[in-house]
Amino acid sequence: MSDKPKLTSTSGAPYPSNAHSKTAGTRGPLLMEDHQLLEKLAHQNRERIPERVVHAKGWGLQGHFTVTHDITKYTRAKLFSEVGKRTEVLSRWSTVAGERGAADAERDVRGFSLKFYTEEGNWDMVGNNTPIFFVRDAFKFPDFIRTQKRHPKTNLRSPEAMFDFWAGQPESVHQVTILMSDRGIPKNPAHMNGYGSHTFSMWNDDGERFWVKFHFITQQGHETYSDDEAMQIIGNTRESYQEDLWHMVTNGNPPKWTLKIQVMPEAEAEQVPYNPFDLTKVWPHGDYPLIEVGELVMDTIPENYFQMVENAAFNPSNVVPGIGFSPDKMLQARIFSYPDAHRYRLGTHYEALPANAPKAANVQHYHKDGAMRFFTNDFGNPNAYYEPNQYDGPVADESTQEPPLRIDPEAVAARFDQDQGDADYDQPRALYAEVLSEDERDRLHKNMAGGMAPVSEPVKERWLAVLKRVHPDYEAGVRRALETGDHGDPALPVTDDTPVEAAE
Ligand code: NDP
Ligand code: HEM
Repeated sequence: MSDKPKLTSTSGAPYPSNAHSKTAGTRGPLLMEDHQLLEKLAHQNRERIPERVVHAKGWGLQGHFTVTHDITKYTRAKLFSEVGKRTEVLSRWSTVAGERGAADAERDVRGFSLKFYTEEGNWDMVGNNTPIFFVRDAFKFPDFIRTQKRHPKTNLRSPEAMFDFWAGQPESVHQVTILMSDRGIPKNPAHMNGYGSHTFSMWNDDGERFWVKFHFITQQGHETYSDDEAMQIIGNTRESYQEDLWHMVTNGNPPKWTLKIQVMPEAEAEQVPYNPFDLTKVWPHGDYPLIEVGELVMDTIPENYFQMVENAAFNPSNVVPGIGFSPDKMLQARIFSYPDAHRYRLGTHYEALPANAPKAANVQHYHKDGAMRFFTNDFGNPNAYYEPNQYDGPVADESTQEPPLRIDPEAVAARFDQDQGDADYDQPRALYAEVLSEDERDRLHKNMAGGMAPVSEPVKERWLAVLKRVHPDYEAGVRRALETGDHGDPALPVTDDTPVEAAE
């Protein structure tokens, strides 16, 4: 008799064998009563859950955040209550478009998700490695994502669809410029910044509200791959990010970021010359300098990837007292979209899974039952299953109410056209002409031309016209690279080029 632990069924009964099925004779058919074999096969059929509809490929670590600078004048959030305060964090970085098995080093925006397990509940910062986004109205998000996924007939990624959409949506040129710049292929998550991207809010103990942008600045420095380098990496391994993160952490060099914020007093939002809640715009550093807050250190590899990373459910709706939303239309839509996605992907009680359950806060609510309600319904108080009740059941804490938001008394409810005309080109122009060096602009031209090369002439011309509105040199540089063929193959997994003819 071996000393090893005994293998059992899921109901705890010992397994007589984990290798030989029960059959009628040595050559005979299987017996239906071999429930151990049936259980094993049935479980295997249920090992996969739906992948995320976007950001399916990801890498995660656990770690902590420590406050280094006092920001209590802006926020009452307990996570920032004192210098030295430490909070556990789960991170997940991702590409947007590729499926769960996609190669890591593809040109794409990267997701940058953090779950802070604070004593007042979980705060989720579900951002990207870019400070802005392609569109500013949630109505356009599903269409945009469709252009990044596979064509329904060719089943291939379609640059025609991508550039057709972008050309019809010039507000996207700011984000596309970053995507096609060097930063479009970070070497791995450690070498990129994370941005909350949206404008959020903070409020303090005196009920004052501030608009805030979150910036997680890499301490490893920016490092990126060119298209050619990325092609070589992908030829060697599709898992370069997972490998790099594994080696960094196991070698004792965990990735670190410095959290900085930009802060705008509530009343100033009406005075700045741009809409501070527009996700396609940054707040210039010159106007709103970065204020240091703390350090994020991601130093632990989760014991089980599926449990902690695949099951992680990040919600922009998870805020804590002292941190709130803003009127940004995209953020408002995301408040609905994520919990809805999680209920579909993970089930009603996704918040009770180990990755998502608060670690430092008590959970007490009146939601009842439902599939897989594996934890108690009553939180130790079985009579308090409705509210109000006479049994000292949990009650709302009015002190956590955020200050009322003043709405323009002249405002009317309508569907407003968000076209901003020339104003959409100012910030991409600043990036192109003032931030990027000549070498970086040259690589941007070539990366863009490589991405556009398979696209039809009319779509090319429409997009070149958008680039010209940003800067004439931008259009000229990309056109030159297209005409001379002086561009690499894109590190985007794209191959189809022309629209598919409809069937007769
Ligand atoms: P600044 O010169 O103060 O800041 C420029 C920013 O650009 C820096 O944060 C730098 O990041 C970042 N940057 C450098 N190269 C790239 C690149 N290839 N892709 C994306 N970002 C890059 O200028 P402003 O604040 O006035 O902004 C000018 C333009 O810079 C904006 O229109 C926007 O396009 C871009 N930008 C601005 C950011 C902001 O929050 N203000 C953030 C990121 C980009 P780092 O310091 O990490 O190297
Ligand atoms: C993932 C919707 C815009 C960052 C997702 C998911 C959905 C979604 C449904 C999958 C969630 C899951 O199954 O776990 C939307 C909608 C948007 C939007 C409707 C616009 C209206 C954005 C923006 C950002 C962003 C602007 C960044 C600033 C992310 C990230 C993930 C994600 C990082 C992956 C989260 C993870 O690591 O699990 N989005 N999204 N999204 N989104 Fe968005």
